[in-house]
Amino acid sequence: MDTASNTRITVKPSGAALAADIVGLDLSRPPGQDTYAQIRKAWNDHLVLRFRGQKLDDPQFLNFARLFGELDSAPIHAGKDVVNPYPEITVMSNIKVNGKSIGNLGHYEAVWHSDMSYNERTPIGSLLYALEVPPVGGNTGFSNMYAAYDTLPAELKREIVGKTCRHDSSRNSAGELRKGFKDVADPREAPGANHPIIRTHPETRRNALFLGRRQSAYINGLPLDESEDLLNRLWAHATQPAFEWYQVWQVGDLVMWDNRSAMHRRDAFDPDTRRLMHRTQIKGDQPFFDPATA
Ligand code: OGA
Ligand code: MN
Repeated sequence: MDTASNTRITVKPSGAALAADIVGLDLSRPPGQDTYAQIRKAWNDHLVLRFRGQKLDDPQFLNFARLFGELDSAPIHAGKDVVNPYPEITVMSNIKVNGKSIGNLGHYEAVWHSDMSYNERTPIGSLLYALEVPPVGGNTGFSNMYAAYDTLPAELKREIVGKTCRHDSSRNSAGELRKGFKDVADPREAPGANHPIIRTHPETRRNALFLGRRQSAYINGLPLDESEDLLNRLWAHATQPAFEWYQVWQVGDLVMWDNRSAMHRRDAFDPDTRRLMHRTQIKGDQPFFDPATA
């Protein structure tokens, strides 16, 4: 890899509905202005970027992330023992030290979601950096929500124009209850934020389906059974393999994704193997729908 100058990068699209590799960059050193502009453009074009073969400590990881904006603090976790090395870093891991989990999500499957969408202001993107990976499993899937929106049947599009959805904040993407939250049986009573289902991306001005998480979601203003039915149809459409790409992790991979236009999930893996990732997230704005784009 020619990273000597940190200026000649190549964007290699995955060939799937989203994601590209950025080749030729050492992220431990700041990229030049032109390179940075290329990365930003590639991020808007491909939604998910992968940088392989990196060697970063936490401050270098955070410095790279800060190029894209102010960082958000880590979310509230389910595990009682988890201590993050920095307030902006979430440790994603199944590793236990003296019987205590050092990270979040364990070895479980994480269902499709957009990070922290249950907040009023949602992170524009997240960065995940692989320090240890299991020999098999634990792959992370990404799904293009512009494509999901663009291909919605016209009738379904009409049904969701102007509608908002409640994004439940009580559970994480492994379905675990977060610290300090109580279990809700009725989605209408779930805590969280309300966001437009059709979300206009502030930079590309393209519309995306913005669904958050399926569990305890609720479409405001509808009777519960109609909300469930509409959500089921939207999720069935949004989770088609044609919109997906899967990241098979190697140590030193840094993957960054746009939370406004992509969802992600994770496969479970063997609990007797180790996986260790550091994640950070870039503070964002309040999701909106611009009617002029429809
Ligand atoms: C995340 C996340 C999945 C993974 O970091 O937000 O969902 O692959 N991680 O660990
Ligand atoms: Mn996530």
